[in-house]
Amino acid sequence: MKIKNYYCGHPGLSIENFFSNKTSNVYNWFNKNKIIYFHKARVAIKYLCDKIGVEPDDEILVPSYNCGSEIDPLYQTGAKLIVYNIKKDCSLDIKDLKNSISDKTKIIYVIHYYGFVHNLTDIVEVCKTKNIYLIEDCALSLFTKHDYKNVGCLGDAAIFSFPKTLPVPDGGALVANNHDLFSNNILLKKPGLKLFYKKLLPIIKSSILRWIVTKKINFLTILFKTKKYEKKREKTPDIPASYYYDQSLNNMKTSNLTKKLLKSFDYNDIVFKRRRNFLLFLEEFKNDIKIVPLFSSLKENVCPLNFPIFVNNREEINKKMLESNIATVSWWAGYYKNLNIEKFTETCCLKNNILALPIHHQLDVEDIKYISKKIKSLVSI
Ligand SMILES: Cc1ncc(COP(=O)(O)O)c(C=O)c1O
Repeated sequence: MKIKNYYCGHPGLSIENFFSNKTSNVYNWFNKNKIIYFHKARVAIKYLCDKIGVEPDDEILVPSYNCGSEIDPLYQTGAKLIVYNIKKDCSLDIKDLKNSISDKTKIIYVIHYYGFVHNLTDIVEVCKTKNIYLIEDCALSLFTKHDYKNVGCLGDAAIFSFPKTLPVPDGGALVANNHDLFSNNILLKKPGLKLFYKKLLPIIKSSILRWIVTKKINFLTILFKTKKYEKKREKTPDIPASYYYDQSLNNMKTSNLTKKLLKSFDYNDIVFKRRRNFLLFLEEFKNDIKIVPLFSSLKENVCPLNFPIFVNNREEINKKMLESNIATVSWWAGYYKNLNIEKFTETCCLKNNILALPIHHQLDVEDIKYISKKIKSLVSI
């Protein structure tokens, strides 16, 4: 009987990625949009704030559930950030959002979480009548469609972050639906080698580990020590320092390597496998009262980023999963220090308890069963 070896870490690259040019590649997914490829999504956000001309007297509405790295470029404009509530199911609290609008509101910033899109009909209408810019953050939602159009088609602009979905060292995109926010003559600078290699090394590591495991030479994994795991102890720990916006990134473009790799990923294949893996988890957990998924169904055209579940002793469980080479993430555990979100109790519940299980395109059916078994054995009521 064949015994399968498991490596459920982050996705890696193969030689093919350096040479292939798929018809359903990332560029073709974006189609003919007005698009600028930046080094990171946060650089696109900074660019947008400059282009819109945000001033210290303006107000920007931001969601209580956030990573922090998307908020900092907005904060650094000097404008006042007004936080609106995100509910425990990750939906927008439309009433709170509308109540937060004032004559000074310049931008409404919306994040589509984990690949799932919000219904923005009301908000689009409000933005039109009140002359407010709507920015859709699609960093976690690459390849999701909304009524058969790409996610991010409703706002004045949408931003994307490629490394969240794909094994690339950098890359973000700005889609300017409002053509006034587009420019084709900005001088974009190259990312420095240091910035670039720091992000490339973990991808190389995942690629080698994946290869080692498929070749059944597992004893070689000993060459790659599991990352030392740091337990967060404070009630509202800060986000990592690297999440804060560094102005030296301004107008930095996507590296040449990422530009090349973006041609090699087939979005049809990626969407198919992510959806299959998500549905497999739903099936695995449907009769298990211990596992509480954030989303209990998967709508057509959603490309899910991962499979988020609520767990109580998250840090302990995450540690054990990582030790088994399963790339779970204590999702957005840090609290961006310039916003006070403690009064948003439903958001704090998301911040403190969501553990994201991997579902990326390099995991097969057996991997998902293996991850399910492992997480079931660790979670208690
Ligand atoms: C929702 C969201 N938006 C934007 C960003 C910023 O992406 P980038 O790292 O490409 O700047 C992140 C980063 O984690 C994010 O989670």
